[in-house]
Amino acid sequence: MGMHARPLSSSFGVEVIDFDPNNITDEVKQATKLLFENHQLVLFRNAGVTEDQHLALVKAIGPISTTDEIMKDGRQFTYISNVHTDGRVPNGELFYHSDHMFLREPLKGISLYSIEAPEHGGETRFLNAAKAYQAMPEDLKKRIDGLSARHVYDYNANRGDQRPDPTKLSDKVDTAIYPLVWHHPESGTPLLYISRLFTTEVIGLPREDSDQLLDDLFAYLDTIGDDYTHKWKSGDLIIWDNLHLQHARNDFPPTERRALRRVPIALGSA
Ligand SMILES: [Fe+2]
Repeated sequence: MGMHARPLSSSFGVEVIDFDPNNITDEVKQATKLLFENHQLVLFRNAGVTEDQHLALVKAIGPISTTDEIMKDGRQFTYISNVHTDGRVPNGELFYHSDHMFLREPLKGISLYSIEAPEHGGETRFLNAAKAYQAMPEDLKKRIDGLSARHVYDYNANRGDQRPDPTKLSDKVDTAIYPLVWHHPESGTPLLYISRLFTTEVIGLPREDSDQLLDDLFAYLDTIGDDYTHKWKSGDLIIWDNLHLQHARNDFPPTERRALRRVPIALGSA
């Protein structure tokens, strides 16, 4: 039996409505892969998956990425958590971004499985970077034609709710340059590839012009609107295309417990 799903927003995302974690057959894996490719985000509410079941489902989309330092010892997942001692990005707001924009090896997808969810806040928001480019006014499209931007992650200074300052970087940074209109390496879809969290400058422009262009692009992105906001409940599982979609996190009280199991997905076939 295949799976049934219903749409989550006007331009991307589906919710699977008849998932059984104890019956992850080849057919279910194939259906998940197709939903991911066609809709870019697949939600399984109250999925209740074990680590092995979670990994089996994610591996239907693509190989597990090991680019993260913490994954290099053979681990297949990490925790986004203020509960686990090795949890990463535990608290606070996170501006919109795609993970690993600052690395040369792009990350195809991400899966998060909610172990503990806060009562208040901590929602994940998603926007469609492909739609953002498609719907862009022609004059703005012309301004960015042929340009590239630098993306930076400063391991000592990065904050989730501040844009990075290229004049104040520490000596522990990762950085990569991508075209502002970048094409998804697998689907070929053009994407507006900038983020408030990681993008520092447009290459080849004087600082003032670069700042102005980025401000205009971020202001434009704000007008696109949030296409889908997910209020986590423990047991929820989402797999999404990290390049086609950007994600952000709403702030939440640090006294609340929030823990998610994160599986990163590399480019390439499963
Ligand atoms: Fe992220």
